Amino acid sequence: MVNKKSIHGEWSSRFAYILAATGSAVGLGNIWKFPYITGENGGGAFVLVYLACVLAIGIPIMIAETMMGRRGRQSPINTLATLSTEAGANKYWHYLGWMGVTAGVLILSYYSVIAGWANAYVFKAIFGGFSADAVEVKATFDEFIASPMQLVFWHTLFMIATMSVVMRGVNGGLEKAVQLLMPTLLALLVLLVGYAMTTGEAYFQGLSFLFSPDFSEIDSDAVLTAMGHAFFTLGLGMGAIMVYGSYLPSNVSIAKTSLYIAGADTIVALLAGIAIFPLVFANGLEPGSGPGLIFQTLPIAFGNMTGGWLFGILFFVLLVFAALTSSISLIEPVVAWLVENKGFTRSKASVVSGLVTWALGVSVALSFNVWSDFTIFNKTIFNFLDYLTANLMLPIGGFCIAVFSTWVMHDKHVREELALPEQQYILWRYLASYVAPAAVFLVFLHVLGVV
Ligand code: TRP
Repeated sequence: MVNKKSIHGEWSSRFAYILAATGSAVGLGNIWKFPYITGENGGGAFVLVYLACVLAIGIPIMIAETMMGRRGRQSPINTLATLSTEAGANKYWHYLGWMGVTAGVLILSYYSVIAGWANAYVFKAIFGGFSADAVEVKATFDEFIASPMQLVFWHTLFMIATMSVVMRGVNGGLEKAVQLLMPTLLALLVLLVGYAMTTGEAYFQGLSFLFSPDFSEIDSDAVLTAMGHAFFTLGLGMGAIMVYGSYLPSNVSIAKTSLYIAGADTIVALLAGIAIFPLVFANGLEPGSGPGLIFQTLPIAFGNMTGGWLFGILFFVLLVFAALTSSISLIEPVVAWLVENKGFTRSKASVVSGLVTWALGVSVALSFNVWSDFTIFNKTIFNFLDYLTANLMLPIGGFCIAVFSTWVMHDKHVREELALPEQQYILWRYLASYVAPAAVFLVFLHVLGVV
């Protein structure tokens, strides 16, 4: 098993894997979602819970999920079937793979709509430039999301881009692109933080909003959202990193690379927060204004700063690329499965899965305007899909992955894949077998009002 390769190919190097997996982790979750849910959930305390979840739940599960992928070397569904056979366990475990594949499609359906917003903003930046006035910036955004045609158009474009990359295989040209884009995105975020510092008093208000925890601001649902976001932002719980792990050469250290990836992901999210909240306060905006937050704040910065026209274009271009390197990991599990089990070519598998996702995404786009009154469990289609996937499916998937990797798989096999020094192995095992599952379970109980 140790030297077996995936039929879909393999990363060309350890560095290539780190880039791809960081590409999967860093995306809209960091720059769009983290700031707006932090704003909705009162700031500091929420951030602290999220950071704790990344450390105690996210990183151990990332190691577990990658390890399972590399040992199984197939799509999540078949990897789970293979690994449960190897462990002499119940075959029903492969349904966990099914849940993951489903979650990936559901997430991508709304992810693509938001990535479409970023793409539309590239063109707004090029042709209009951004206004320096907060009221105008907000009006532009409101007008934009009120248009079903525009949202569907940009969503369609993004799905076409995603599927054409996936068609070529994830380890094709993408490796190079990420290598250039990630550092540039980071540089631009630092520039935006620099701009935020010029807001004076508001800069400190922003920092204090993000970093001074007030636990009276959060309830059990906020804790669930913070935990769900730890899964979402690291790309865990649905088999994405499992598939990426299945393309990982045998000699790469899974634990070390997981730490790098989680570290990079967290830094990007915190920088985005530091860049955005000072603008929120400087312009008298509402931190809890929802999914439009970055589109209502960052343009103000670009509208004001020298060279803002160019930086604005660059920023939204990079955001679209960051979204693209994430979206391909969301759809890769189902594509890999269609190739393995249905004998589809990669192209056919991409087109079929892309069409299904696209159709769902259209309903998400409409939920921001013409269908905004249509609700499921009191949530719009967008909010419902986001809650269902990030707050429920990913944590449940992650819980099962933690349990499977430590209670079901044979210790000897896990040790073989992770190849860690004894103490580190014990620490991981403790976190993955007890801490992470117990934490997820407790948060669920808390939300249900049991504890
Ligand atoms: N992590 C990505 C982001 O923050 C989104 C993403 C990519 C994802 N792959 C995933 C989320 C798998 C959940 C599961 O934007």
